[in-house]
Amino acid sequence: MLSFLSFLSLFLLFLAPVYSYLDICNPLNTTDECDPNPALAKSYETNFTSNSSVSDFFSVYSTSSQAGTINYTDDGLVLSINKRFDNPSLVSNEYILFGKFEVIAKASPGQGIISTVYLQSDCEDEIDIEWFGGNAYEVCLNFFHQGNTTFWNRSTLYQMQDPREEFHNYTIDWDNERIIWYIDGIKAKVLYNNTSDGFPQTPSRLFIGLWAGGDSDNAEGTILWAGGLTDYDELPFHFYIQRFVITDYSTGDSYTYKDTSGDYDSIEAENGEVLGRVQKAKVEFASLVGGTDESLSTSTARNSTSSTRSQSSTASNDDEEETTTEDSDNVTSSQSSSSEAKAMHLVSPFDASSLHYFTVFTILSISSIVILL
Ligand SMILES: *[C@@H]1O[C@H](CO)[C@@H](O)[C@H](O)[C@H]1NC(C)=O
Ligand SMILES: *[C@@H]1O[C@H](CO)[C@@H](O)[C@H](O)[C@H]1NC(C)=O
Ligand SMILES: *[C@@H]1O[C@H](CO)[C@@H](O)[C@H](O)[C@H]1NC(C)=O
Ligand SMILES: *[C@@H]1O[C@H](CO)[C@@H](O)[C@H](O)[C@H]1NC(C)=O
Ligand SMILES: *[C@@H]1O[C@H](CO)[C@@H](O)[C@H](O)[C@H]1NC(C)=O
Ligand SMILES: *[C@@H]1O[C@H](CO)[C@@H](O)[C@H](O)[C@H]1NC(C)=O
Ligand SMILES: *[C@@H]1O[C@H](CO)[C@@H](O)[C@H](O)[C@H]1NC(C)=O
Ligand SMILES: *[C@@H]1O[C@H](CO)[C@@H](O)[C@H](O)[C@H]1NC(C)=O
Ligand SMILES: *[C@@H]1O[C@H](CO)[C@@H](O)[C@H](O)[C@H]1NC(C)=O
Ligand SMILES: *[C@@H]1O[C@H](CO)[C@@H](O)[C@H](O)[C@H]1NC(C)=O
Ligand SMILES: *[C@@H]1O[C@H](CO)[C@@H](O)[C@H](O)[C@H]1NC(C)=O
Repeated sequence: MLSFLSFLSLFLLFLAPVYSYLDICNPLNTTDECDPNPALAKSYETNFTSNSSVSDFFSVYSTSSQAGTINYTDDGLVLSINKRFDNPSLVSNEYILFGKFEVIAKASPGQGIISTVYLQSDCEDEIDIEWFGGNAYEVCLNFFHQGNTTFWNRSTLYQMQDPREEFHNYTIDWDNERIIWYIDGIKAKVLYNNTSDGFPQTPSRLFIGLWAGGDSDNAEGTILWAGGLTDYDELPFHFYIQRFVITDYSTGDSYTYKDTSGDYDSIEAENGEVLGRVQKAKVEFASLVGGTDESLSTSTARNSTSSTRSQSSTASNDDEEETTTEDSDNVTSSQSSSSEAKAMHLVSPFDASSLHYFTVFTILSISSIVILL
């Protein structure tokens, strides 16, 4: 097993500019003067039926030779890898400072092929959903705080029905108290703001991408994490998103870091307020996704689990329902609904070394610093 540092150096040794790259000014670097982050400060939805309908919100940042194809069809967005090193990638033009998003997505099949949707800030706070093309029963839910990869237990591998075969509903709800990942409406992972691993809390853009973690040029650990070597005889690879809804919990024209702490209370919303539209955003979001937001459901439903949520229940009128918790491993049908039983949480099918690779790799690749090799 490689140590952290030897793996890191092995990784850097292989580093070469092959995939997409986005130049980012890190506001926690005191020697940098970064521009303010333009704020979304509202809700946005798209079914990706045309380039023009999304161009206000998303930009392509892949270089043209590696862009693959990004198609807008009657059935939504199709990101495609058509040849080796393709890395079709979209990034939102504006930032949210806390908020909620939903994607109705079908991951690409293909060993070593990674479909991904994630929020990332300029100081490398990150909230991720990643799908492995060779894995028929799991999705990876992960986070980072200021690029810190110290602990390896950040990620949750969540068991579900084949994410490559059918469209599923993935939702992330992020505020200053907790982050909740939902899959098909079931709570799949919760991160509270008291975690010792650091809590993402800076203005973030939404990224959508598809790339080959299993390329043979990648470091061994990367290929292992990605689920094995990519077989380019299986080209092309497609990642589909039918629908996307996002809302910002803050208001203002832009978000600016006032110091180098990276704490959300050091972020200034110009002409606005951090967390200034939480309730409004929740109402808008619920209406855009079909009115089924748990936080807006009747008090009866919330009260039914009040004993287990007394500590987490706060003024935010939260959608906390202790269905699937962090330390439950496999939710069985005897103690929960059948849909919960389908969406099972596995603690760690990987051994420590591969989780380790995973962590290092994710921050290096998914993060803005590199989209590597
Ligand atoms: C910080 O700023 C210096 C000077 O501009 C630059 O050389 C360095 O790469 C920056 N570091 C990070 C982590 O952005
Ligand atoms: C996509 O959204 C547009 C605008 O909301 C709507 O007119 C169109 O019918 C939608 N198409 C599909 C396939 O849902
Ligand atoms: C829309 O199409 C234009 C012209 O081909 C292209 O430059 C741009 O990157 C596309 N935008 C998106 C979000 O796909
Ligand atoms: C993407 O669009 C191109 C050009 O219209 C078309 O040739 C190709 O078949 C489309 N690919 C997919 C996966 O829809
Ligand atoms: C990771 O493990 C450390 C040490 O056991 C613990 O303090 C931390 O809360 C864990 N993080 C998560 C996200 O479970
Ligand atoms: C962290 O969450 C708790 C509720 O769980 C809340 O009372 C507290 O204000 C939050 N901390 C920050 C810094 O927002
Ligand atoms: C997706 O799940 C969220 C809750 O996690 C729910 O509010 C929303 O209505 C769902 N969307 C669809 C299309 O089922
Ligand atoms: C990184 O996170 C770990 C806990 O996961 C913490 O002990 C350590 O102090 C953090 N490092 C930095 C530089 O913040
Ligand atoms: C739910 O709980 C709230 C606050 O604890 C209480 O005011 C309300 O009457 C309860 N509703 C029901 C239906 O029990
Ligand atoms: C973190 O906060 C959650 C929710 O408020 C609480 O249930 C949990 O016990 C706290 N954990 C620690 C280590 O304080
Ligand atoms: C979870 O439970 C299901 C149904 O009982 C079983 O088939 C599966 O193997 C279990 N998975 C784990 C990881 O225990």
